[in-house]
Amino acid sequence: MTTKASPSKRAAQLQVLAAKAATCTACELAAGRTNVVFGSGDPDADLMIVGEGPGQNEDEQGLPFVGRSGQLLDQLLEEIDLRRHDNVYIGNVVKCRPPGNRDPRPTEIDACKDYLREQLRLVDPKVVVTLGNFSSKLLLRTETGITRLRGQAYEWWGRFLVPTFHPAAALRGRASVLADMRVDFQLVADVIAGRLVYDAPEPVAAPLPREAVEAAAAAHDQLGLFG
Ligand code: URA
Repeated sequence: MTTKASPSKRAAQLQVLAAKAATCTACELAAGRTNVVFGSGDPDADLMIVGEGPGQNEDEQGLPFVGRSGQLLDQLLEEIDLRRHDNVYIGNVVKCRPPGNRDPRPTEIDACKDYLREQLRLVDPKVVVTLGNFSSKLLLRTETGITRLRGQAYEWWGRFLVPTFHPAAALRGRASVLADMRVDFQLVADVIAGRLVYDAPEPVAAPLPREAVEAAAAAHDQLGLFG
């Protein structure tokens, strides 16, 4: 059995990784960035949030979710009694801003995913929340869109993963998007409070959907957490 390194050791390892990312030129996004947005928060968090990629504010400040989407994210966290630097770690699928906020390309996601994989391994959270299509599809290894994926907690690598909409979708979409996000964040609160237990003997929610079965099969894949 492998024992988990101490929080301070894992924090130090995250810093080493962040320093490596700061000089990364593995994809073309490096050319247009002001700052690499590696991630921030509590390195020993129960909850890790994975967004898509930095926008303009994040690129300027070098921190994830510091614009309007971040304000909404902070509000959703607050509603379940969490704060971003206290028991929460926030990262993104790609660490550099795609020009004009375009979608990250598969080659860019591929070039960046080892950083995310290491962040997940080092933080080792109880629950991962994926915001929007890019992070949800990447981590659950599915082509199914977020509208169908969300609304439940998936067992994922010895922990839970809760996919939900990206806050930007709530800011520009119908009120129901935000209401759905609140339902999903309540699931997160349930996991953290131990009301949803990994590998429970009884079914914990609805019958396993096809994606969960695929995710479980993928868990046995040699390739690791994803891709
Ligand atoms: N949107 C994201 O996906 N990530 C950020 O860091 C900011 C906005």
